[in-house]
Amino acid sequence: MNFLITGGCGYIGSLLIRKLPFAFNEKTNVTILDNLSSGKEYVLANLPSKAKYKFIKGDIRKKEDLQKALDKTDVVIHLAALTGSNNSFNLQDLFRQVNYEGTKALMETCLKHGVERVIYASSCNIYGGKLEKTKITEQSAINPPNPYAKSKYNGELECLKYFRKNKLPVTCLRLATNYGWSPGIRFNLTINLFTFKALIGDNIPVFGSGDDWRPFIHVQDTVRAIIMTIKAPEDVVNGEIFNVGSNEENYRINQIAEMVKDAVVNDVEIVYIRKDDPPCTYNVDFSKIKSILGFDANFSVLDGIKEIADRFQQLRQ
Ligand SMILES: NC(=O)c1ccc[n+]([C@@H]2O[C@H](COP(=O)([O-])OP(=O)(O)OC[C@H]3O[C@@H](n4cnc5c(N)ncnc54)[C@H](O)[C@@H]3O)[C@@H](O)[C@H]2O)c1
Repeated sequence: MNFLITGGCGYIGSLLIRKLPFAFNEKTNVTILDNLSSGKEYVLANLPSKAKYKFIKGDIRKKEDLQKALDKTDVVIHLAALTGSNNSFNLQDLFRQVNYEGTKALMETCLKHGVERVIYASSCNIYGGKLEKTKITEQSAINPPNPYAKSKYNGELECLKYFRKNKLPVTCLRLATNYGWSPGIRFNLTINLFTFKALIGDNIPVFGSGDDWRPFIHVQDTVRAIIMTIKAPEDVVNGEIFNVGSNEENYRINQIAEMVKDAVVNDVEIVYIRKDDPPCTYNVDFSKIKSILGFDANFSVLDGIKEIADRFQQLRQ
């Protein structure tokens, strides 16, 4: 099977490209399209010999790069994006260009190449700043709290338009916030950041009151959910949206800070930093992916914190 992973040098992509060859019995070819704007080329070192890899340094906004990357592709996993919601306020147009226009250009090229399966990495962040009495489902209203979320949601709408109009076989996965180790780990995500800060003896910075809810998922579980979606029957996943996470893994930010403080040896404090942004809190329901695909998380937040601490502990030897 021939895969194209856009953004394959990033946090999720750098783990996914390593897991794919072991998830499918057939011979696997993995093409990675990444412009290395935030991803790192070193994640391509020591790839499994079980698959054939091809790296294209290119941009999802450029037609010629997409044409080259999509040659003979069966399955596209679209991870490339500008990430980091805080940065997006000052870079609205760039986020729109990459996350929306880039996605649109990719869907158009997928259609031309007759791709069999497309997975779009969307985000639970699009639900934004509201606390409902019941947990947020795929049917709940969208309220993107920042330009990043807005661009991801517009990308999602574009994907679903291609499904409805052209029968392009797309599935949108609204991922919870990831944590845990991968070759391209990001340290600007809550759990990874708090753990890293505590490990170097810095205080744990909580912006705002810390009362806001977020769903979390280990990056290994995200990769497993992507693979399960690809393996699922077409009629079950095509044109569908799934929240990807676990009902047991919604936490308030200050709960995460407490967990990190307790799990890490250093004696650090939790510091609350004033934040004037509008409130952003979402507690998400993951029953759909559990009942339809049988997916639930294998890892807990505590596992992820301990895993990162262990990785750094190994550097001492
Ligand atoms: N990590 C999370 O917690 C999380 C949560 C929800 C959704 N997502 C979504 O999952 C996807 C992957 O997330 P991640 O954490 O691995 O992000 P990441 O920032 O680590 O990786 C994104 C990759 O895309 C590449 N890229 C950026 N612009 C590009 C362009 N124009 N052309 C080609 N490549 C480009 C970057 O160089 C990087 O390697 C993103 O679409 C993100 O919106 C992530």
